[in-house]
Amino acid sequence: MPAITFIQADGKSDRVETSGGESAMQAATRHGLDGILAECGGNAMCATCHVYIDAAWLARLPAMVDDEDALLDGTAAERLAE
Ligand code: FES
Repeated sequence: MPAITFIQADGKSDRVETSGGESAMQAATRHGLDGILAECGGNAMCATCHVYIDAAWLARLPAMVDDEDALLDGTAAERLAE
């Protein structure tokens, strides 16, 4: 079963098993993890579920789309890459 390891800003980590058919936000909220507010329910309108991806994993993900890029410009958290 796929799993996601969420690492909080304070270094605490939580490993969450997922069905593979849900988003990282859905897995986090299903397990009640702190820090994932998901205010818009995953409709890509609030960015309260944004995460930092380790550079080693970036090539495995689809490229960022313009809407994601614009949304991340409006978050309160520091943006680490463009
Ligand atoms: S819950 Fe992810 S963008 Fe709003």
